[in-house]
Amino acid sequence: MPASNLLFVFSGSVACFRSCDVVSQLVQQGHRVRVVATTSALRFVGAPTLEALTGSPVLSDMFQPGSALEHINLTRWADAVVVCPATAHTINRFAAGFGDDFAGALFLAHDRRKPWLMAPAMNPAMWSHPATQAAVEKLRGWGVEFLPVGTGRTACGEVGAGRLLDPAAIVRCVNAAVARPARRLRVLVTSGGTAEPVDGVRVLTNTSTGATGALLAGHLADEGHEVVLLRARSAVPATLPVREETFGTFAELDAALARLLGQESFDAALHAAAVGDFGVDAVFVDGVARKSASEKLDSAGEVTVRLRRRPKLVDTLRARSRNRGLTVVAFKLTTGADAAAARAAVAPLFARAGADFVVHNDLARRAAATGAFPADIYRPDGAVAVHCPTRTALAAELAHLLASAASPESLSTP
Ligand SMILES: Cc1cc2nc3c(=O)[nH]c(=O)nc-3n(C[C@H](O)[C@H](O)[C@H](O)COP(=O)(O)O)c2cc1C
Repeated sequence: MPASNLLFVFSGSVACFRSCDVVSQLVQQGHRVRVVATTSALRFVGAPTLEALTGSPVLSDMFQPGSALEHINLTRWADAVVVCPATAHTINRFAAGFGDDFAGALFLAHDRRKPWLMAPAMNPAMWSHPATQAAVEKLRGWGVEFLPVGTGRTACGEVGAGRLLDPAAIVRCVNAAVARPARRLRVLVTSGGTAEPVDGVRVLTNTSTGATGALLAGHLADEGHEVVLLRARSAVPATLPVREETFGTFAELDAALARLLGQESFDAALHAAAVGDFGVDAVFVDGVARKSASEKLDSAGEVTVRLRRRPKLVDTLRARSRNRGLTVVAFKLTTGADAAAARAAVAPLFARAGADFVVHNDLARRAAATGAFPADIYRPDGAVAVHCPTRTALAAELAHLLASAASPESLSTP
């Protein structure tokens, strides 16, 4: 990971001591960190502490001798600015465009092609206040990236959303923001299983956990790619720093894929979701078709469920994509397949879906206890491009293949 110039803005929250931990971790990783602190922040953490952590004097007063024009010089120096902790007051002041203190002047002078991250920390009522939420939305519209807030007990004893994100997670988000891949890809990852309603409370689903998709999404984001994880509501959530959307049924996944691929220009789609092959066509109780699908079935009756085969969503990805150069990665799970059966299982995904790569793994060879997740990445000619012993290795190999597959001149329709 290359060292970056990181400019931290501390504002006046109890969470300042946790931001010191964030700064300390980033300095230990080799980054150069400078700190600007608001007057209030210096009531929570001493300038000597920040100076000792970063090796540089803390800046707070724009008019301090020696600081003149530092708000301009620092914006030129910084690869990214991180406001951590970001108070309600500072968020609202930035949204109003005030430049009468060091932090506000920095915000206005900032080169908006560079990342500006905000890690909010406040009481749940302050966070949910319409003034704060409106300011957050306004700042997002200006390209500011808000890190999620944590939920739980805040320093004031109230429980709710508003806590500063865990320091390790902030460090990860900062590293992702300054990562410089040779080419920044936009990647859509799907994960988890669809769930088809049988009645008002029961579903037909599968055992997919979404762990592979979540790990792939997190790895690509860590490398600096822009990732959307489209996951089942019951699946493993996205690890930071990934934008995520959720689905329940086949129809919801179908609609989300059409919208995302049609509206946004992705370079690659990793379709790791376990899409049910069958939907519920009709349910009969004691031989009589049920009229309402929303009521709970009476368990005393003899129930017959008629299934209808669903189309393969993986086959639709390329045609739905706004980017005609989309790299499609399909996934195939088998149970106890030998090499010939595995090759036969992946072949239709190249022929039908036009996949660029197919990831094959076999349930019989996985070992949850050791983390073993042997997977083979196939190429369209039927050859195994690479064998991966674990999910982490799979993520690294796919990131490498995607980077070389996505050509810079891949065409986007307007
Ligand atoms: C003990 C104490 C703790 C505070 N913690 C927070 C906090 O976590 N988040 C917040 O938004 N404001 C908090 N405040 C209020 C801010 O410090 C206050 O709004 C201040 O004006 C913020 O100024 P600044 O944003 O310029 O640093 C706290 C105040 C006190 C006295």
